[in-house]
Amino acid sequence: MTLFDRVFGGNDAVYGLTEGAIDGAIAQYGEDKAVSFPNTAYSLPCYYAVTGTKVTTLKELKEALGVVKTLMTREKRLNDAFMSGVATALCAEFIEVLKYIDGATPYEEPCYGHLGDAVIRELGVPLVTGDIPGVAVILGAAPTTEEGVALVKSYQAQGILVTLVGGIIDQVAEAGMKTGANVRVIPLGKDVTSVVHVVSVAIRAALIFGNVTPGDAGTLMKYTMDRVPAFVNAFKPLDDVIVACGAGAIALGFPVVTNETENIFRVPKSLIVQEDVSKFNATSLEARDIKIKITNIDIPVAFASAFEGEIIRRKDMQVEFDGSRVDCAELVQTCDASEIEDHKITVIGPEVDEMEFGSKNSIAYVVKVAGKNMQADFEPVIERKFHNYINCIEGVYHTGQRDMQRIRISIDAFNAGFRIKHIGEVLYASVKNEFDAVVDKCEVVIYTDPAECTRIRHEVAIPIFDKRDERLDTLTDESVDVYYSCILCQAFAPSHVCVVTPERLGLCGAVSWLDAKATHQLDPAGPCQIITKERPIDENLGAYEDVDEAVQKFSQGALEHVTLYSIMQDPMTSCGCFECICGIEPFSNGVVIANREYAGMTPLGMTFPEMASMTGGGVQTPGFMGHGKHFISSKKFMKAEGGIERIVWMPKELKEFVADRLNKTAKELYGIDNFTDMIGDETIAEDPETLVAFLTEKGHPALGLDPMM
Ligand code: SF4
Ligand code: NI
Ligand code: NI
Repeated sequence: MTLFDRVFGGNDAVYGLTEGAIDGAIAQYGEDKAVSFPNTAYSLPCYYAVTGTKVTTLKELKEALGVVKTLMTREKRLNDAFMSGVATALCAEFIEVLKYIDGATPYEEPCYGHLGDAVIRELGVPLVTGDIPGVAVILGAAPTTEEGVALVKSYQAQGILVTLVGGIIDQVAEAGMKTGANVRVIPLGKDVTSVVHVVSVAIRAALIFGNVTPGDAGTLMKYTMDRVPAFVNAFKPLDDVIVACGAGAIALGFPVVTNETENIFRVPKSLIVQEDVSKFNATSLEARDIKIKITNIDIPVAFASAFEGEIIRRKDMQVEFDGSRVDCAELVQTCDASEIEDHKITVIGPEVDEMEFGSKNSIAYVVKVAGKNMQADFEPVIERKFHNYINCIEGVYHTGQRDMQRIRISIDAFNAGFRIKHIGEVLYASVKNEFDAVVDKCEVVIYTDPAECTRIRHEVAIPIFDKRDERLDTLTDESVDVYYSCILCQAFAPSHVCVVTPERLGLCGAVSWLDAKATHQLDPAGPCQIITKERPIDENLGAYEDVDEAVQKFSQGALEHVTLYSIMQDPMTSCGCFECICGIEPFSNGVVIANREYAGMTPLGMTFPEMASMTGGGVQTPGFMGHGKHFISSKKFMKAEGGIERIVWMPKELKEFVADRLNKTAKELYGIDNFTDMIGDETIAEDPETLVAFLTEKGHPALGLDPMM
């Protein structure tokens, strides 16, 4: 049997199953039954991306199957095999979507099945920063549970996002390994067709970030090949269906590594036989050209970005530290080099062993840094990273910041030997690693003595925080001489440029003007470049010749004009990983904002994924704009159209998150008290009529403004 026979045979088999399943569904539900995956704006994303057609009913699904058939040519050429692989993936998507008819939830824990658009947007920033260096797709059962688990853990320790299909899911469960998106190990499903859920992620990345036109299959495949660092590990025995799926993976540019030796044909860099499962990791990374940033830290538990989202529950914790109850603080302090002994770690007060099991304690850590390029402005930038650093420790959980942080150390981590001093090791190594351009020497002092914590918090930290807040308050777009570009997201959205100003942070919410300034200093040739603001065109719009020149240059000519303060005229582009999106609500002359976490409906008749699909990929779309959460309370929020008084609706949770700051801005700008009380949310209205009635009752100022279009 040739490889062609196997691919074609596998494809035919899946096609037959799909046809049967669709006919069966039509017989059961009738051909007008609606079909779509949940929480996506792309219906059946793979089929939509490949053909440009959105399937909405069983009847259309049946027609789509006819289109898939046209891909299934049977000449023994490589391209025919690839297209049959793509056809197999599309058939898998059809079989899977049938499981979701009538709002069914076909997957049970630990399996995820289909992943919503919001998950993909969330992956945007970590993928571009290399925080998630790759995506592994593991298919089938490993020769032994130990080998399977070791492979999964090896990727997890590198921060690679791991998706599991088939027998490996039971192996991982049997070993008691924690899985879930928060630890970057995602069991998709046990049927081989569930592999399409990760294919769907890769393909939607092209639609969301890459501005790939649906139907342009050539550009789509080039995008996934060039920009989505995925690969497949398939365990023997491989049946023809898996071989056909593998051909589809290869067509998208994802190499397949397998330990199958029977009836398999090696294709250099694409289909690789590796009999030794312990070498799957190295072979895969080499084939996909993935480089891993190594941070070697001397602690008794793992340290990897995959553990960043891990949660430690009360019943699993040894001790906790809680700034909301007792005195805590975290602080970076610039010192003179002579005052610092590099890599010195001191713990002042009791170690975990001396703390009562399950108790709440004080902790304060002061990270002293020195360097000739160090500036006080970088202190908060470094400090904000502590959250990530400490969270990356396996079995340690961190939330909050400044003097309100909360840390839990798990029983497992404690039993493995993890102690307070290791927090110092992590902070030292991470700061030196990431901020090497400004930090030459670093020393960490950790206080657990309650009286010392009180002293550090009130006499040292709080006065410094207050001073910084004063400085931040005076940081306005007018008060600085330069803005910064950020083009980190160009890895996925090749023509996207964020212009970051003091009053407008990057749309991902992760890059403030101070961050961009520090990034520029740390890496002068890197993603953040200085943009001067010497030649204003229109200050109200936030239009500058300098900004236009910069975006032209950094977008390689894709953009000509970008304004900083308008959503209608030359608005800033979006990559796709925005925290929020706002869109015009024509009945109230206002805008509706939805955040990525919001799963419900908005008065625009669109969900977050649907609104979000209106923009992205680095194109300008007047009327829709992606932005960060903190931008909502900015005096520069669509200032050209009247500012925040245009905001008529937000999800309740977001409204509560921004309330204090938004109310303060509304008071300053328009003299309105408790402005957020005038803004609708999902408990008040999910349609424009109810919303307008509510706004009218509240006397919302947007009703009296000029229409935006
Ligand atoms: Fe991406 Fe903009 Fe955030 Fe930079 S600031 S990481 S370009 S979204
Ligand atoms: Ni992005
Ligand atoms: Ni982004």
